[in-house]
Amino acid sequence: MANSPRQDESQNENSSGASIHSDSGSQPQEPGDRMLGEFRLLRKLGRGGMAEVYLAEQTSLRRNVAIKILRQDVLDDTDSVLLKRFEQEALAAAGLTHPNIVQVHSVGQQDKIHFIAQEYVRGVNLHEYLTKNGPPDVPVALHIMKQVAAALQAASDAGVVHRDIKPDNIMVNRKGEVKVADFGLAQLTQEGRKVNLTQEGTTMGTPLYMSPEQVHGRKIDHRSDIYSFGVTCYHLLSGEPPFRGETAMSVAIQHVNEDPPLLSQRRPDLPPALCAIVQKMMAKQPEKRYPDAESLLKDLRKLSRVIKDERGTQMISMDHFVTGEKDDEKAHASLIDRLKSLGRVQHVALLSVVCLVIFGLTAAVGWLARPGDPLKDALRNSEASNGPVRSSPEAGS
Ligand SMILES: Nc1ncnc2c1ncn2[C@@H]1O[C@H](COP(=O)(O)OP(=O)(O)OP(=O)(O)O)[C@@H](O)[C@H]1O
Ligand SMILES: [Mg+2]
Repeated sequence: MANSPRQDESQNENSSGASIHSDSGSQPQEPGDRMLGEFRLLRKLGRGGMAEVYLAEQTSLRRNVAIKILRQDVLDDTDSVLLKRFEQEALAAAGLTHPNIVQVHSVGQQDKIHFIAQEYVRGVNLHEYLTKNGPPDVPVALHIMKQVAAALQAASDAGVVHRDIKPDNIMVNRKGEVKVADFGLAQLTQEGRKVNLTQEGTTMGTPLYMSPEQVHGRKIDHRSDIYSFGVTCYHLLSGEPPFRGETAMSVAIQHVNEDPPLLSQRRPDLPPALCAIVQKMMAKQPEKRYPDAESLLKDLRKLSRVIKDERGTQMISMDHFVTGEKDDEKAHASLIDRLKSLGRVQHVALLSVVCLVIFGLTAAVGWLARPGDPLKDALRNSEASNGPVRSSPEAGS
C-alpha cells in the first residue's frame, strides 16, 4: 500500500517556513488551508529566484507532488506575452518523460496564481549535498554526471534547452537516482525580460554557471547546457565553482574571458581524463565543446569502465547513493529472465494446443471411418428385407 502523502512528506529533508502569497499579497495563509485546483498544499519546500516550491497532495490520485508557484513579482497577469511563453515552456517540459528528468504533471492558474505541478523528488539537490558532504569521490561523481548527461541528451533530442543547469536544479533522491528539474523554465526570466547583470538579486539568479553566449545575450542551443553542466561538474568535483566575484557582472565577464583555474590543481587526485572531460565541456566556444550530450555520455561511460577495470574487484564506495549500475544490471538481467521464462511458458502452451488439435482431428477422422457393429448391421439388413426379427431363446446360444 502506498504511503499516505502526509507520512511521506514528513521524511523530506528540506523544510522551511510556510507562507503563500494571497491574491492581494497581503494575507499569508497556512499551506494546509490552501487548495490550488486539486492540489492541497502541505508545506513549503523552498524558494528560488522565480518561484516558491510547496509539497502538495494531488487529491484525485492521492500522491505527493511539488507545486511550483510563480512569484507574482516575476510573472503577473498583465504580462500576457510572458504568460503565453510560460505555458508553452511548461508544455514542452511536460513532453519530456525520462527517468532523469523531473516530470512536469500539469500547469494551472487559480486566483491569479500561476503554478506548475511536478514530480516530487524526496531527497536533496546537489547544492545541498555539496554543502553537507563536500565533493564526492570519483565513482559517485561519475554516477551523477552520467545521469545528468542522459537527461540532457533526452531533452536535446526533444528540442528542449534547459538554460539554467546548476547544482540547485539537479536533485538526488534516496535511491541515488538523479533528476534534473526546471527544463526550459529559465527562458522566462532570461529572455522574457532584460537581464540586468549589474544588480544583485535579479530574477535570473547568479550567473555562476552561465555560458559565455548567454552572457552575451546570443541565441543559445543545447551546447550552452553542456557548458553550464561543465561548470556544475567543476563545482561538484572541486567543491567550488571556477569563477567567483563581488558582482554578477564580474563573474559573467570571467565566463567570457578567463580560463578556469585547473581542476587538476584543485583536486590532484582526480583522473586526468575526468579533468579533460570537464575542461572540454567548459570550452568558451560552443564548437569546441562536446557537440552533444550523447558524445559526452560515451566518454563518461568509457571512463567509468576504465576506472572499474583499474580497481578490479575492489569495493567502490557509494556511501551516499545506494543504487548504482549494479542494481540496474541486476534489474535488467531479471527482466530478461522473466521475458525468457514467459517465452518458455508460451512455447509449452502453444505445443499443447497443437497436440490437442491433432488429437481432436484424429479422433474425428477415426469416428467417421470407424468399422460398423456387425450385429447392428445384421439387424438393420434383416429389418430392411424381412421385417422385425424377434429374438428366440436359441438366438443367444
Ligand atoms: N520537484 C521538486 N521536488 C522536491 N523539491 C523541489 C522540487 N523542485 C524544487 N524543489 C526544491 O525547492 C527549492 C526551490 O526550487 P526552485 O526551483 O524554485 O529554485 P532554485 O532552483 O533553487 O533557483 P532558481 O529559481 O534560480 O531556479 C529548492 O531547494 C529545490 O530543492
Ligand atoms: Mg529549480
